[in-house]
Amino acid sequence: MSEATTPRFRSVLDRFVAYKPGKVVVSPEGRSFKLSSNESPEGPLPSVLDAITEAARDINRYPDNNATALTEAIAAFCGVSAEHVAVGCGSVGMTQMLLEAVAEPGTEVVYAWRSFEAYPLLVSLSGATGVQVPLEEETHDLAAMADAITERTRLVFICNPNNPTGTVVPRAEIEAFLDRVPEDCLVVLDEAYREYVRDDAVPDGLTMYGDRPNLAVLRTFSKAYGLAGLRIGYLVAHPVVAGAIRKTFLPFSVNSVAQAAGIASLAATGELLERVERTVKERDRVRGTLLADGWTVPPTEANFVWLRLGERTMDFSAACDSQGVSVRPFAGEGARVSIGSPEENDAFLAVAKEFPHRN
Ligand SMILES: Cc1ncc(COP(=O)(O)O)c(C=O)c1O
Repeated sequence: MSEATTPRFRSVLDRFVAYKPGKVVVSPEGRSFKLSSNESPEGPLPSVLDAITEAARDINRYPDNNATALTEAIAAFCGVSAEHVAVGCGSVGMTQMLLEAVAEPGTEVVYAWRSFEAYPLLVSLSGATGVQVPLEEETHDLAAMADAITERTRLVFICNPNNPTGTVVPRAEIEAFLDRVPEDCLVVLDEAYREYVRDDAVPDGLTMYGDRPNLAVLRTFSKAYGLAGLRIGYLVAHPVVAGAIRKTFLPFSVNSVAQAAGIASLAATGELLERVERTVKERDRVRGTLLADGWTVPPTEANFVWLRLGERTMDFSAACDSQGVSVRPFAGEGARVSIGSPEENDAFLAVAKEFPHRN
């Protein structure tokens, strides 16, 4: 028999490392605290659960492919018209849609590194070349990012606050950066953690894109709105940008239950933001405790903290695992720890206090 031949795959898959989601660990006593995915620690609000239950009655039908009611609700919430809004299957799905719209072999996509793990993964799948610009003191180096733009650059991601460091770039720096970006290069402000920001110097992207047709703002229902499991993200931009991105929508990929939950969540924004306020208080308590214990923790405006542990990262992660606390380690670099409930945060802080080496 001749040697078996496999189907031919894209060569990019030979180098491709699939996305690793945050893991779940259980301690010997059965304790399990998931602080590895920056989720909301609280379950859905009763009003949102009602909307989900009601929408579930119709799941024999395809969803509204245009997500008309959700798009209108988002537009009203953002104070823009619906043609400025595109929705997608989580902001990861929106990121893929964006790349499908602008990236192709021979083009470049610039982003800071380390930043959100999905950027390199989705950029490589798009066939474009990723250009990673190292963080400077755990923060985007926007001057170096502007220097990295060439005539091949189609897209730049600015993750503000940055995942996994929690650091932010202020309005003045973003404005100065945008002034240097060619008008035919799209800049995406990824504001997945916008609702946790308390630093007034950090701009709301929605107040910046009005006179900048090459700026788009990316938001999600997964974090502050607590709908990570339902997968809804959205983009706000000028109609020519939002319209181009909408063309790349995978049909029906925002399901009907998610659409209903998104609308109900926007109606309950006040209640959800009270939860965010609790997380912000916990964030400040967690960082304060770590600092008092001798850790170095960059200021964070998101719902997580970043510990640059270098070679001790995996030991630290294993120490957390043993106590049923899952964190997100990046081997050789550091660990990102989400802010959970006070009990979950205390469990993490107890491990950090005992860990033999501070960072
Ligand atoms: C910076 C950033 N952008 C986007 C996302 C994706 O969120 P989702 O696809 O759940 O909307 C995340 C999630 O971790 C993130 O950290």
